[in-house]
Amino acid sequence: MKQFLDIEDLPDIGKTIQEAIALKKDPFAYETLGKHKTIGLLFFNSSLRTRLSTQKAAQNLGMQTMVMNFSNEGWTLEFEDGSVMDGGSAEHIKEAAAVLSQYVDIIALRAFPTLQDREKDYQETVLKSFQKYASVPVVNMESATAHPLQALADAITIAELQTKEKPKVVLSWAPHPKALPHSVPNSFAKMMQKIDVDFIITHPEGYELAPEIVGNAKIMHDQDEALKDADFVYVKNWSSYNDYGKILSTDKSWTITNEKMALTNQGKFMHCLPVRRNMIVADEVLDSEQSVVIAQANNRTYAAQIVLKKILENKES
Ligand code: CP
Repeated sequence: MKQFLDIEDLPDIGKTIQEAIALKKDPFAYETLGKHKTIGLLFFNSSLRTRLSTQKAAQNLGMQTMVMNFSNEGWTLEFEDGSVMDGGSAEHIKEAAAVLSQYVDIIALRAFPTLQDREKDYQETVLKSFQKYASVPVVNMESATAHPLQALADAITIAELQTKEKPKVVLSWAPHPKALPHSVPNSFAKMMQKIDVDFIITHPEGYELAPEIVGNAKIMHDQDEALKDADFVYVKNWSSYNDYGKILSTDKSWTITNEKMALTNQGKFMHCLPVRRNMIVADEVLDSEQSVVIAQANNRTYAAQIVLKKILENKES
């Protein structure tokens, strides 16, 4: 695998999920694969899970890790070609990516959307510019519109916990006080349409995801109806796509409670974390046996590890 910008870069998703589960059982099986190799983790936005699980994954493969937080350690990069840099940007991506490529063997980066300009966000300028100007593989640790490492961890979690061949998986919107990106629901929805599950998305009207993301997924505006007999309930807030970046509702009747979970087939509660308690989900659910969020976060390491392993193996060949 040459890079990991989105889940389409995975050669075979079913096989990759099984390989990640095997790695989890024997995490140091390839501890020399990354010897004398370094990954640079660049954060334009904060992280707990992605930062630490990706570092752990790299270390399990014998790699060295370097981390840079651009928000408080770096200066503003310029991404526009031909711009006169007489404003706030101190360095162009052309130099930054080329220089970084001499120090590290893989560049991984996180860069959130503006939520102001849909066209610009969906162009994925930061991620695509690193891909264009870096001479080493690039890994997406959550970009403006996608969080493929999270989606891979989610698929691993479902594969480990499913008790039937084709489980029912519901992606439900839930209320949140801040406008949030589409990256997690986008990548989860794409992933669910690539594995063998019965997939439904439920959200209030106005919260439709991008048409190319929704694809053939079934949409329901009645959350209770959608949750009936669900085996997995994946809950996430996102802001509006059509009324871009806006909060159209904070309707607490969409918060996941025990009453909602009782509609499911003893469904597992999933969330990418961090989660706002008693907004997205009630304490009673998050603290219950039905919640698998901690196991889900653990799988972030093995999602990152299988991706880095495939990139390292490609560099060797
Ligand atoms: N789920 C996730 O990406 O968590 P962090 O924002 O803590 O990395």
